[in-house]
Amino acid sequence: MVYLAVDPAFPPPLQKSPSSLATRLFETRKLSIELAGPLTAEDMTVQAMDDASPTKWHLAHTTWFFETFILAPYLENYEPFDEVFNYCFNSYYEFLGARQPRPNRGLLTRPSIDRILTYREYVDRALERLVMDDTALPPGLPRLIEIGINHEQQHQELMLTDILALFGANPLRPAYRPARDRVSHTKLEPLRWIEFAGGIHRVGHDNGDFAWDNECPAHDILIHPFRLADRLIANAEWLEFIADGGYQSATLWLSDGWTAVNRDSWRAPLYWECRDSTWFEMSLEGLQLLDLDAPVAHVSYYEADAFARWAGKRLPTEFEWEAAATTTPRTGNTLAMGALRPLPAEAEPQNRPRQLFGDVWEWTQSAYLPYPGYRPPEGALGEYNGKFMVGQHVLRGGSCVTPQGHVRPSYRNFFYPHQRWQFMGLRLASEVVRC
Ligand SMILES: [Fe+2]
Repeated sequence: MVYLAVDPAFPPPLQKSPSSLATRLFETRKLSIELAGPLTAEDMTVQAMDDASPTKWHLAHTTWFFETFILAPYLENYEPFDEVFNYCFNSYYEFLGARQPRPNRGLLTRPSIDRILTYREYVDRALERLVMDDTALPPGLPRLIEIGINHEQQHQELMLTDILALFGANPLRPAYRPARDRVSHTKLEPLRWIEFAGGIHRVGHDNGDFAWDNECPAHDILIHPFRLADRLIANAEWLEFIADGGYQSATLWLSDGWTAVNRDSWRAPLYWECRDSTWFEMSLEGLQLLDLDAPVAHVSYYEADAFARWAGKRLPTEFEWEAAATTTPRTGNTLAMGALRPLPAEAEPQNRPRQLFGDVWEWTQSAYLPYPGYRPPEGALGEYNGKFMVGQHVLRGGSCVTPQGHVRPSYRNFFYPHQRWQFMGLRLASEVVRC
């Protein structure tokens, strides 16, 4: 039995052309509840691993975020719903005090999901009072509300990836939703190469739309001529890597990667299972036959890098990726499409890259570092992105569970090189070689 009402049209289409901040705010809040729709109270409480969080925690934390950064400072006479929630649902803000350790979020059997839903209602009613007339909001508040919306959307993606981690760890391999037709799709075409000229390129965010601080400031960089694969690497190609001893060949791997292979016994992407010589993949639709033509997903940076070396190529830099994406339509298989899994590349004109947006986040060889002149915002929100700029790699492009508003050329996601529970994959790049 599911705990929350399920919209039969799930997942609901996201609003295409939002006309007001308030509309998008409450659409976003509603979508989080709808995403939790297929789950039981038990599903929403348990934590699969240290990196993943329970759905219940995501629902509460995103609410705490609005309460802490928007209602407390901006709504007159606002009373926090429950003082202890700051401890329970603060994620990583040192500025805001002590918190439940991340690996122990699954121990929060209390507060109950009912109380979390009441908390969400309480905060939503207060937000309604605050934004009733969004033309009269004090300066600075619209930007904060945008941050709250975008923050909750990031957690919507995490809700789905963390549910997948949870169900993938369950021996019953439960399905988040019933499987949809997986048969008819485009046959995988041979990989083609698209050449890009070198030169000075403008990268980063430089228009009036919303962007995170880590996309700024926009600046010029020098790119050498390069070639980019026209599509993502597919599962069939990953099988060739496995069959060729990819996971057994130390020379293909970075030292830390080889340590991870041996320590964690990696032999295939996360969620792959070989049963009676047939490969299956755990998905949000339960355990399914591996789709050979679909992009490989749930591989670490180490695996992506080893594959590229095996293929005689390399991963693109984040700026090469961005230079290519700037001239590509911002469409793709994202959460709004409802597939909830990476899909094979569709046949398209051959002169531009496919699958740049959606399907899987693409590992780049670029370290996650501040742009020249970057300064984190003042106060607690300065901790949102800036303090993570060490030891991680940038991923670009969004995934099949990314809200549409989070795919843009300048968007920088980042993860540690060993992590692979997100929808992470790769696209190859190479130098331009002239004879
Ligand atoms: Fe958060």
